[in-house]
Amino acid sequence: MNAVTKLRKAMRLILVGPPGSGKGTQSGRLLSHFQMSAISSGDLLRENIREKTPLGLEAEKIIRDGGLVADDIMVGLIIGELSKRGWVESRSNLSSGVTVSGAMEMLGGTPKTTRLQACEAPSSSFLLDGFPRTKCQAKRLDEQVHMNFVVNLDVPSDVILERIAGRMVHVPSGRVYNTGWNPPRVPGIDDVTGEPLTRRPDDCPEAFAHRLKVYYESTFPLLEHYDKVGLLWTVKGNSSDEITPVLDEEILKRFG
Ligand code: AP5
Ligand code: MG
Repeated sequence: MNAVTKLRKAMRLILVGPPGSGKGTQSGRLLSHFQMSAISSGDLLRENIREKTPLGLEAEKIIRDGGLVADDIMVGLIIGELSKRGWVESRSNLSSGVTVSGAMEMLGGTPKTTRLQACEAPSSSFLLDGFPRTKCQAKRLDEQVHMNFVVNLDVPSDVILERIAGRMVHVPSGRVYNTGWNPPRVPGIDDVTGEPLTRRPDDCPEAFAHRLKVYYESTFPLLEHYDKVGLLWTVKGNSSDEITPVLDEEILKRFG
């Protein structure tokens, strides 16, 4: 696929998969294949850490140790971001809604209680990488925005562990490289900006093992939830190159 394809129906996709399963990699490819946008909860948190916002200072140690940031903060962060980017709008005539005050205050924004409606223009299609990650987050998202496709990246654990050992990232953009598979043109340097690449502090073996455990305890159960409501679609594969064409085809079938 060369040109960017316009979808005919608004897609609101949740990408679920263990750490290192290729969510960020697939997300980057989907953005170059389809007219859509993406939010990575991990990238947003890392941006806050880099900018030393109150939220970033709070999240830094949790992320380094491989734990999960509190649900209230995450819901506020993501819902706030969806509104800011105009992919969802307020519905003033509805009474109940999520309180985003906690996270908005930490982000320096205006506390507010609101309820949202997804924008149905196909150009407002978006994907969420890394959110929701707990049942509580999923329920809060369900209350606010009707997501219409959940993709589960099913990649074997031994493949994942090998990948993480070679991962390098360009933190400001979220671009992901791998020393063995998709190395940068110049070792240790981002292809686009020429800036240095780094290893994520939470990719050390102890934190990574913890992230995997947290995934199977807290996030894996979400698959059952989305399966029950008929949104779950699982794609298996040892490599992102196997997964990408299958995923593209499924998106075209549903939204093209
Ligand atoms: P987040 O940044 O979301 O991390 P993650 O879910 O652990 O996933 P990763 O980003 O590590 O992996 P990925 O699936 O994106 O894989 P990638 O494409 O990089 O979250 C980080 C932390 O933030 C969490 O631990 C938590 O603390 C906090 N957080 C975030 N969201 C939260 C939430 N909702 N609630 C609470 N806390 C939250 O690929 C991995 C590697 O494999 C790369 O090197 C890549 O180049 C390589 N690779 C990809 N495809 C291939 C291939 N085909 N062959 C070989 N290598 C490949
Ligand atoms: Mg990622």
